Amino acid sequence: MSAIDVFGYGIDLLAVLLLALGLKGLSKVRSARSANGLAALAMGLAVAGLLIQLQPSPTAWLWIALGTAGGGLLGLLTAQRVPMTAMPETVALFNGCGGMASLLVALAVALFDPGDSGLVERISIVISVFVGAITFSGSIVAMGKLQGWIGTPGWTQSSVRHAVNITLALASLVGGVFLAASPVSEAGPLWLLVLASTLLGIGVTLSIGGADMPVVISLLNSYSGVAAAAAGFVVGSQLLIVAGAMVGAAGLILTQVMCTAMNRSLLSVLFGGALGAGSSGGHVGGGGDEAGYSRIVSCSAEECAMALETAERVVFVPGYGLAVAQAQHALRELAKLLEANGSEVSYAIHPVAGRMPGHMNVLLAEADVPYEQLIEMDTINPEFPRTDVVIVLGANDVVNPDAKTDPSSPLYGMPVLEVDQARQVFVVKRSLGAGYAGIANALFELPQTAMVFGDAKAVLQQLCTELRSQGVGSKVAVAA
Ligand code: TAP
Repeated sequence: MSAIDVFGYGIDLLAVLLLALGLKGLSKVRSARSANGLAALAMGLAVAGLLIQLQPSPTAWLWIALGTAGGGLLGLLTAQRVPMTAMPETVALFNGCGGMASLLVALAVALFDPGDSGLVERISIVISVFVGAITFSGSIVAMGKLQGWIGTPGWTQSSVRHAVNITLALASLVGGVFLAASPVSEAGPLWLLVLASTLLGIGVTLSIGGADMPVVISLLNSYSGVAAAAAGFVVGSQLLIVAGAMVGAAGLILTQVMCTAMNRSLLSVLFGGALGAGSSGGHVGGGGDEAGYSRIVSCSAEECAMALETAERVVFVPGYGLAVAQAQHALRELAKLLEANGSEVSYAIHPVAGRMPGHMNVLLAEADVPYEQLIEMDTINPEFPRTDVVIVLGANDVVNPDAKTDPSSPLYGMPVLEVDQARQVFVVKRSLGAGYAGIANALFELPQTAMVFGDAKAVLQQLCTELRSQGVGSKVAVAA
């Protein structure tokens, strides 16, 4: 082994260590930002290590430079422009790119550099093509569904889809077995595998919708890791194997956590059809069946402020609408006023509130809400009976009591924040429109609930103004 090889392997090892540290750091809000930087540095080192070992020709350098500049610029622009609320679509797109990269690497080796490949390499090519193609097409469909570009066709909600998917899976199996069995990569089985597994990714993802979408995206993220690990075996890159395995395992753990949070089994997500499919693939926007309610009580921001003024214990429940309204800073302002007024304030965090894992934590962290005030669902639920006022801010599905009591509800079985146990509940939203799952919310009609209609930011600002007009602001000034 030459000195250059040793140097290259050393950089590889450092990259793996930094990547592992980066992944570990991502598990805490406080360290997530620096951990992300660490993982990006690890990726940069990994590429450098590979180039040192490969010592490409000048022409190859040109292609590598062009690819890196083009891809890097595209990634930078996408990441800068995408709003927080569209993050799941972005993650789906990036997963798809990961799957496509593994697919292309395996295809390139199979078509242009087959050599006298051994059984392990051929099986690796089959896995990389199969999982990479499913990840690519499945992720693109998932992105299209989240954007509202693709709906859930009727046939995917019947048993026809099982027949179609089983046929595609069998076709992939035939292509894969023939490809693995023949010492020279044959074009026929290879393209059969590519086509059948690409269509299988579409077939499986097309039928899923509503509240199950985040689980699918997390699973596809795990697949992209598996595809990358398989590609690592194809090109003999230990780093790719390790990094791919880590992403695969992390994605699988996240999938499991999300399934538990929604009380869904992975099998029912993949084969059970669209949860809340009536919501056009799960899009919010004030749709829903507004006419279905008969006992709605609404109140003004002024009345809500009066209740807050005398409340000893206040819990805010942030949801997707808070992110849409970008009302996190106004919320923090209101919380400060209430604290200065002697109230105990906390924030109830549901694991799938918003549109991505940790969405509410990130949103509230932007407004410097102290971490210790963010209380997880299992911890805060027993506290609701002794809570004076709950303010639900742009949340809907995650506070729907039907999830506990109505077996016919699509949300039935999903653990929810039990705000219906609190003494008084104010729900701040623009209309009686449904949430992501597209269904009515029994909370809105409970006797202790009052709706405060309006954009979350505007209502929070009005609440601050009302409290200040009652002299609460002056107490803050003294406290400050
Ligand atoms: P949702 O149930 O989606 O409800 C959000 C509510 O926000 C809507 O009912 C909407 O009502 C309101 N809203 C929208 N814009 C608003 C604004 N500017 N001001 C005030 N309110 C506004 O949200 P949730 O309770 O956070 O539940 C999340 C749902 O998304 C779950 O079903 C979950 O499974 C799903 N999901 C989660 C994820 C992850 S990983 N977190 C990813 C994808 C999907 P109006 O239109 O009447 O204002």
